[in-house]
Amino acid sequence: MEIVIMLGAPGSGKGTLAVELAKETGIRHLSSGDLLRAAVKEGTPAGVKAKAYMESGNLVPDELIAEMIEDVVRADANTQTLLLDGFPRNVPQAEILAGMMARAGVTLRCALLLDVPDEVVVRRISGRRVCPACGAGFNVDLLPPKQEGICDACGAELIIRKDDKPETVRHRLEVYAEQTFPLIEYYRGTDKLVTVDGSGDDLAWKTQTALEKIRG
Ligand code: AP5
Ligand code: MG
Repeated sequence: MEIVIMLGAPGSGKGTLAVELAKETGIRHLSSGDLLRAAVKEGTPAGVKAKAYMESGNLVPDELIAEMIEDVVRADANTQTLLLDGFPRNVPQAEILAGMMARAGVTLRCALLLDVPDEVVVRRISGRRVCPACGAGFNVDLLPPKQEGICDACGAELIIRKDDKPETVRHRLEVYAEQTFPLIEYYRGTDKLVTVDGSGDDLAWKTQTALEKIRG
């Protein structure tokens, strides 16, 4: 197995691009946020611990998310390429991941940074709608569902994520600047960093550009 890490601010479009990349290539997409939201919904012990951190826009404890990711990596021995969206999120998590990969004999293909200015992020998040049943993502302005408020994939009623309130989004951007910015330099230092301009809305262009960068 090899891993591609996806880096980018909240609302930069990591999840949206990852779904396209998975469709085009069969790469397996694993979103730490989706994994945590599923645990919260199911009320697992990890989900119960994570809930308040997530709703306030803070990171959950490193060990909590690292254990959940390691369980998936271990169970996924047959996956060729795993696209990690949202993990690692800080340098200690990157070090935990490096240890995990060494134990599992997994290599790092690259860390793909979706580079998007804050004003675009705020516009995208304010229009985001998600499906609570199947996890599909939409945007009222940019990627609207065929029928307003209804998931194209499964017909459930779309919702606004609890951490998408404007004040929580501002806090998530601060947490990103404090904790995740140093990670960009960390991967630049290992020569594994590749960057895609994520500011435009042309998803097909972004998907092709990301694929070229991943393939090197
Ligand atoms: P997580 O779910 O990872 O949230 P995030 O990083 O804040 O990122 P988002 O999911 O908000 O944005 P995105 O980049 O995926 O953008 P999207 O594709 O939706 O984490 C949530 C929380 O979980 C964290 O705050 C933390 O508490 C916890 N957590 C997760 N991982 C953790 C970790 N490793 N350690 C500790 N805690 C952790 O796009 C946004 C919008 O734009 C959408 O509406 C989309 O439709 C639209 N859009 C995107 N791209 C395009 C495009 N090209 N054209 C048109 N519309 C587009
Ligand atoms: Mg996401």
